Amino acid sequence: MGDNYRNDPGSFRDPLSHVVIQDDRVFRLFNATGEDDRAFAWPFITAQSARGRVVESELVEGIHTDAAGMVEHPRLDLITYAFEWSFSMLKDAALLQLQLIRDAAHAGVGVKDATPYNVQFQGSRPLFIDIGSFQKRSETDPWFGYQQFCELFLYPLMLRAYAEVPFQSILRGSINGISVEDARGLLGPARAKRQKGRLTHVVLHALAQRKLSDADSGVADDVAESGMSTELMLATVEKMIKLVEGLDIGVDTSLWSDYSDRSHYDDEGLREKADFVDAALAASGSIGHCWDVGCNDGMFSRIAAKHADRVLAMDADELVVDRLYHELRSDPSQIAERITPLVVDLSTAGGGIGWRGRERPGLFDRSSPDAVIYLAVIHHLALTFNIPVTQQLDLLADLTSNLVIEFPSENDPMVKKLLRNKRAGIHDDYTLDNFERWLGERFDVTDRRVLAGGTRTIYHATRR
Ligand SMILES: C[S@@+](CC[C@H](N)C(=O)[O-])C[C@H]1O[C@@H](n2cnc3c(N)ncnc32)[C@H](O)[C@@H]1O
Repeated sequence: MGDNYRNDPGSFRDPLSHVVIQDDRVFRLFNATGEDDRAFAWPFITAQSARGRVVESELVEGIHTDAAGMVEHPRLDLITYAFEWSFSMLKDAALLQLQLIRDAAHAGVGVKDATPYNVQFQGSRPLFIDIGSFQKRSETDPWFGYQQFCELFLYPLMLRAYAEVPFQSILRGSINGISVEDARGLLGPARAKRQKGRLTHVVLHALAQRKLSDADSGVADDVAESGMSTELMLATVEKMIKLVEGLDIGVDTSLWSDYSDRSHYDDEGLREKADFVDAALAASGSIGHCWDVGCNDGMFSRIAAKHADRVLAMDADELVVDRLYHELRSDPSQIAERITPLVVDLSTAGGGIGWRGRERPGLFDRSSPDAVIYLAVIHHLALTFNIPVTQQLDLLADLTSNLVIEFPSENDPMVKKLLRNKRAGIHDDYTLDNFERWLGERFDVTDRRVLAGGTRTIYHATRR
């Protein structure tokens, strides 16, 4: 390869293959053993790509490398991680992983791991991206990825379904997921809900792991000796599929789950707001990524998707994102295909995780939005999370040159409500005048409208 290539910072844990980015092209390079596995699994890989489950791959020859084999993949336009997914997104990614393990075993192919980092969402459709996971398989091979599947898929899902604890911040804090010992503590027996699968995959798994850590032989030898067969392994995977299919997010209301009626806007105000966003983005020329921060039910993400190739519909409230995901999955329109829903709390978003903090870069380093819509969210970050308006505008000016922003003034009923429980005076600088001055220091305002009702103003602004 030429000089202008770089190793993907998140692709080094598998000694048999790794990803290299050259300009806008993505290659996976295999060493001799990896290439052997790839060639063996190739008919399975290409068949799964044709079904839209596995990323497309093309064999590449003639580019000089030390690798024994090489394939090229299409470059994905967005990389997201499990800690940004809602419950149903992680569940669908888990089911894709399990279906691939099952179908691979039927084809005599093994799967070496089971991690959501091998799955990416295209719009709201999960796609498996690591063809280096597929390898030769012997009849007596156990399910090698079982423990990893539990740590990164099953326990986070169980935690949400059985204990009503969201998994996102835990997965963000631990690239390896939730250990079986931690799962045992988190899903303690005192819980009222019946916890299907807990005995087998948490309690007995923990006991087995303790026993194994004292043993001299490896897992594969032990399992082979105890009579593992493809049928037995497949039966375990089938049971896991049923268990995961039966898991449910477990809650049906949240702070923001009833927002869709937008009752604090009258019809005219809401129509003005929608028209303004539509016209501002239509006037913006070509938009690659557009972020809709605080998207709620995605009403404005859908408008943005008329004008952008990809809309990242972000909200801190997992339930609203989960609902949006379900709606998008069952909507075959092109508009829906362009929207990827994400659980993102902007007040804590940003940092990378894993090895040297670079293995899984932060959101700001994975997507650089050509446009941001920031509607009826600034007051929540300012008055609930104490992120000053100036700091929010600094972030927005760093992020994008094209901003559509709505500011509810100090006279807005919602702003007054948020201030009611605050110490008097501490947010006195939250005023429309200050906002307009601070916005003007960073952006040129190209359009502005006071919405019917009179307390909310919407702006289209381009960075200076
Ligand atoms: C008033 S609603 C606005 C919804 C939509 N943007 C609109 O204009 O119709 C505010 C939304 O912001 C979300 N939100 C609040 N704080 C947030 C944060 N720190 N990061 C991301 N979203 C947040 C809430 O969950 C809620 O869905």
